[in-house]
Amino acid sequence: MMYPLQRNRRLRSSSSLRNLVREFEIYPKDFIVPLFIVEGENIKEEIPSMPGYYRMSLDLIEKEVALLWELGLQSVLLFVKVSDTRKDNKGTEALNPEGLMQRAIQTVKRKVPEMVVMTDVALDPYSSYGHDGIVEEGIIVNDATVEVLSQMAVSHAEAGADIVAPSDMMDGRILSIRKGLEAAQLVDVGIMSYGAKYASSFYGPFREALDSAPGFGNKKTYQMDFGNRFDAVVECQRDLDEGADIIMVKPGIAYLDILHELKQKLHCPLAVYQVSGEYAMLKAAAEKGFVNYELVMLEQLMAFKRAGATLIASYHAKEVALFLNNEA
Ligand code: PBG
Repeated sequence: MMYPLQRNRRLRSSSSLRNLVREFEIYPKDFIVPLFIVEGENIKEEIPSMPGYYRMSLDLIEKEVALLWELGLQSVLLFVKVSDTRKDNKGTEALNPEGLMQRAIQTVKRKVPEMVVMTDVALDPYSSYGHDGIVEEGIIVNDATVEVLSQMAVSHAEAGADIVAPSDMMDGRILSIRKGLEAAQLVDVGIMSYGAKYASSFYGPFREALDSAPGFGNKKTYQMDFGNRFDAVVECQRDLDEGADIIMVKPGIAYLDILHELKQKLHCPLAVYQVSGEYAMLKAAAEKGFVNYELVMLEQLMAFKRAGATLIASYHAKEVALFLNNEA
């Protein structure tokens, strides 16, 4: 059949028709809200390269999560900024049952028990070298790191985390974490693996937020080479085989092809992380008046859904929930 029997514009002719036939929608419940946490009281520090995003102390985090929940957001991903005096090569502080992360998990769970609490599992915020693993003679050693990551995940789970999210890209960590959780009888704690995490320059503002930039070299011996696609499929399938429950792709907009391919090949919930550099770029362009901030934001978030994401970790989560609540 051809023109004029088939007209592409027919179903676009009114807003109600467009609403009826639209395949994808964005809801507040799709989002994972990253939170940056610092020691102290009544602290709310703006991150210079992430305008409108803050590091907060636990008393303010408590208020924040209550507000997020009211907006329909149902999940947070916790990151802590650790003081230099508590950093070492082995990430000892990461295992402290009274550590900032452990207290943060308890604080959120106490305030909003239904909130899904996810935690970043990696050594970099705790590492004196700013690397995701233990360093020996300039090398990031895999197996010794995996041992610590497993203990760290168990420590988060014991504090009340629902899902641990290893972002380190060491080999075998999912199996080791799963075994650790099983041995501790924390069988219902899930693992969201940052399985397709690329060695990306889009992480710059995040490393400023946590003061966690690598002190030497870069992360290319463990994070993926962005010249590869097959790597993502192979590694994420291995993570699922090792016991991961959710797979994450990171960064977001520059990696939609990866998301789409994983959606075809894996049968699990897929998450995407729209990272700090992506947020910073949109803020900067909007501040200059070059683009419409909210509309570009929504268009990018919709692209994640279309490409195959079920969950979206994004610094826009609160703004978008406010926007969607106002629309309704
Ligand atoms: C820690 C971690 C990083 C991010 C999430 N977890 C930084 C890195 O790997 O260097 C990046 C998040 C962002 O840029 O928003 N391993």
